[in-house]
Amino acid sequence: MSVNGWHPGLRESATFDRNAIAEIQRAAREGIYDIRGWGAKRRLPHFDDLLFLGASVSRYPLEGYRERCATDVVIGDRHALAPLELQIPITIAGMSFGALSAPAKEALGRGATAMGTATTTGDGGMTEEERGHSETLIYQLLPSRYGMNPDDLRRCDAIEIVIGQGAKPGGGGMLLGQKISDRVAAMRDLPKGIDQRSACRHPDWTGPDDLEIKIGELREITDWQKPILVKVGASRPYYDVALAVKAGADAIVLDGMQGGTAATQEVFIEHVGIPILAAIPAAVEALQELDMHRRVQLVVSGGIRTGADVAKALALGADAVSIGVAAMIALGDNAPALDGEYAEIGSASGFYDDWQAGRDPAGISTQDDALAARFDPELGGRRLANYLRTLTLETQTLARACGKSHVHNLEPEDLVALTVEAAAMARVPLAGTGWVPGVSGS
Ligand SMILES: Cc1cc2nc3c(=O)[nH]c(=O)nc-3n(C[C@H](O)[C@H](O)[C@H](O)COP(=O)(O)O)c2cc1C
Repeated sequence: MSVNGWHPGLRESATFDRNAIAEIQRAAREGIYDIRGWGAKRRLPHFDDLLFLGASVSRYPLEGYRERCATDVVIGDRHALAPLELQIPITIAGMSFGALSAPAKEALGRGATAMGTATTTGDGGMTEEERGHSETLIYQLLPSRYGMNPDDLRRCDAIEIVIGQGAKPGGGGMLLGQKISDRVAAMRDLPKGIDQRSACRHPDWTGPDDLEIKIGELREITDWQKPILVKVGASRPYYDVALAVKAGADAIVLDGMQGGTAATQEVFIEHVGIPILAAIPAAVEALQELDMHRRVQLVVSGGIRTGADVAKALALGADAVSIGVAAMIALGDNAPALDGEYAEIGSASGFYDDWQAGRDPAGISTQDDALAARFDPELGGRRLANYLRTLTLETQTLARACGKSHVHNLEPEDLVALTVEAAAMARVPLAGTGWVPGVSGS
């Protein structure tokens, strides 16, 4: 007998909770690890564990209705002759054509362009839909080299060398056969319908010196015009950032373990890498030691959802943030209106993460022409622009409350932590104390 859903005498194990039991049963049934999209789903130290100290007697806030709070950012002016000039410090992260449908890529371009920011290609190459609608387009050079086209290096506005992703540092990509359509196969030089696993390391590198050679090659191909970004998954950010800067990177993209993915083993998503909260201070420390903070820009990602997340990332020392999952949701992924259709494929709105399966009723994470045709790129682009505008307004609101006339003037001094863990990782004091674990003794 159950009383309000509680069964007397039945006690759930904290170790073998429902998810753990279901996973053992699934593994016993299928004999292979689980693959899914989205990012880490368990609770991790995150920006929610930080708070801003608004201005008061000792600080002077700015008025929202008449005092400017600027949001522009320049990325890549260390060496590149044509750095990226963005109106907002929020870019769209690299998401592959293959993972996302062509209309979804078009919508990302429309939304980002409306707000004066950039989109990023991904594994599998550059689509005309994205190039045509993104005023500023970052072209990824990935370990797989799938879809890599030297002409596209000249058609983009910046190049991002991908070494790793936050969801899977040390691992390669996956695109399952059901998403390898004729077009995706042709762009990647792969057979149609066969599962594809992309490389976890670049074919022509054996160590960090090779990164320097690669950056040099890319500069020559693009006549020293285009910024060269280096993307790493957060695992050893201090050393990785220092090495990338030494190799000549114009900017660093640092993706924390909450970062999204289109298809990765669950065990990888939940157990490899470190949270972005812990990674930013270590990356900033490396940049400061090399006297490169703000000269080599730091773009961070992994679980950014709100303007509060953006503002906190900037306050910790990032120059910009990048968004993946949140951009998909803004386009219409996981929309409540599709709940009935999610139920038919064993999911529900707010939970749908089978982006590897290609059966997305929203038409976003699919290569099925009929499903993709359901998605309206103009509407999706408008929704994304609205979302980016909201993030920006929220970031400005918080910056003004801290008395800043530019969002980049936010600083660690504006923050406190709610937990000892977050204080130690973010290197800001525990709220109400002057204690930064591992740094100060008071
Ligand atoms: C659908 C999807 C596809 C992705 N494809 C790529 C890719 O091709 N290359 C890459 O470097 N990262 C890829 N990523 C990771 C994103 O670039 C980014 O690092 C991550 O999504 C940021 O975290 P967030 O999703 O929590 O914002 C992908 C992410 C998603 C959600």
